[in-house]
Amino acid sequence: MRLVFLGAPGSGKGTQAAKLREHFSIAHISTGDLLRAAVAAGTPLGLQAKAVMDAGQLVSDELVLGMLEERLAKSDTAQGFILDGYPRNIAQANALDGLLGRIGQPLDAVVKFEVPSEVIVGRCEIRYAAEGRADDHPDTVRKRLGVYAEQTAPVADFYKARGTLAVVDGVGPVDEVFQRIVAALPSR
Ligand code: AP5
Repeated sequence: MRLVFLGAPGSGKGTQAAKLREHFSIAHISTGDLLRAAVAAGTPLGLQAKAVMDAGQLVSDELVLGMLEERLAKSDTAQGFILDGYPRNIAQANALDGLLGRIGQPLDAVVKFEVPSEVIVGRCEIRYAAEGRADDHPDTVRKRLGVYAEQTAPVADFYKARGTLAVVDGVGPVDEVFQRIVAALPSR
């Protein structure tokens, strides 16, 4: 099963990807987690990415694609993968098409999480208080929501036009949202 999770910051992509990874024994690839690991390790990529991430903006397409290509080459993707946080704009969606075409691994579905902005701001506020993630500060969350509306929301139309988009209500208990996702996926 090869999936993309699309959704605004805080819509639950990472939470649900962790559950789905167990359910289907597939890899969970979060470009945000890969970038945060690069920042923590102080790699050249991490040093370039940090200020951009803290400002709630998108890291350059080229950097993220290189990182993703490297990650997809690992053996744990053999049974499939969930891309959590990629693609985030139309250029990335086209780049992903090219990359998956080259490695012969087309997507099975794209799941879009629908969660109202006020719920998202509340969730990120709770996480900010608990974990102190810099981009969860309410001002930065509002910027991230703006970037999502401008650059990432059109990606849903890109996949809708191909008939691979499943839209899921992301509000409610985590296990209920999970059941909705499983029900929305194509049967294997
Ligand atoms: P990234 O880490 O991808 O952040 P995001 O998409 O903004 O995702 P979040 O982790 O905030 O939210 P999520 O949807 O995964 O929700 P989660 O499950 O964590 O990206 C960070 C930054 O990296 C970007 O801003 C950008 O700078 C850069 N970046 C990443 N990918 C990039 C790319 N492709 N191109 C360029 N730049 C890129 O849940 C959020 C919170 O809500 C948690 O505390 C969780 O416990 C809680 N929660 C989850 N589900 C529920 C529920 N059902 N009910 C109540 N609470 C819930």
